[in-house]
Amino acid sequence: MLDFEKLVLSSRSIRNFKDKTIDTDILKKLINITRFCPSSANLQSLKYIIVNNPIFCQKVFDNIKFAGYLPNGTVPKPNCESRAYIIICNDNKISKNPLLIDAGIVAQTIMLYANSLGISGCMVGSFSEKNIKSALNIKDDYDTALVLALGYKNEDVEITDVNNNDIKYYRDNNIHYIPKRELGDIIIDVFD
Ligand SMILES: Cc1cc2nc3c(=O)[nH]c(=O)nc-3n(C[C@H](O)[C@H](O)[C@H](O)COP(=O)(O)O)c2cc1C
Repeated sequence: MLDFEKLVLSSRSIRNFKDKTIDTDILKKLINITRFCPSSANLQSLKYIIVNNPIFCQKVFDNIKFAGYLPNGTVPKPNCESRAYIIICNDNKISKNPLLIDAGIVAQTIMLYANSLGISGCMVGSFSEKNIKSALNIKDDYDTALVLALGYKNEDVEITDVNNNDIKYYRDNNIHYIPKRELGDIIIDVFD
């Protein structure tokens, strides 16, 4: 398997983390790589907030939701919370549109780069924009697009097949199983 395939396969969403901090310089490196991502009309309206301080991490944690398919409170386990966050914001002075596609591109780029450095994480779209903006004093010029929860992995994830069209992830014996559709189920047509 190519290194790139291995990286993508091993870069799973992780929601339990070790009690180990991430260097702020590494978080800056993760953001630096996004400067070279594609951007609609090259507007580059996405900007970032680094949260890497326990008090502010707690404020973010209190306003995000993990793993909606699992029973409430399953993840993270006590003391396994994410250790840092990158908040992807859209500068609405540059672009009024939410540019969610741009946010997805930078999010996966950051996650793959992070995983290549041994750092894991989870994209979080389920968060209270109002509370996070207020807790972090984010100006009205910025809309929050996505939260990236980061840390050093403290759980096992295995890819499994989708059965009976059931795409819900589940946990068994502390392993998080993530069903993925077969190739034949995602290619609609081939004009060869
Ligand atoms: C745009 C986006 C938003 C997401 N929001 C959340 C979220 O709010 N909470 C969460 O626990 N996981 C969230 N996830 C992670 C997905 O649940 C995860 O990608 C999915 O279960 C597949 O697992 P995998 O990333 O390991 O392939 C989000 C993923 C994406 C791409």
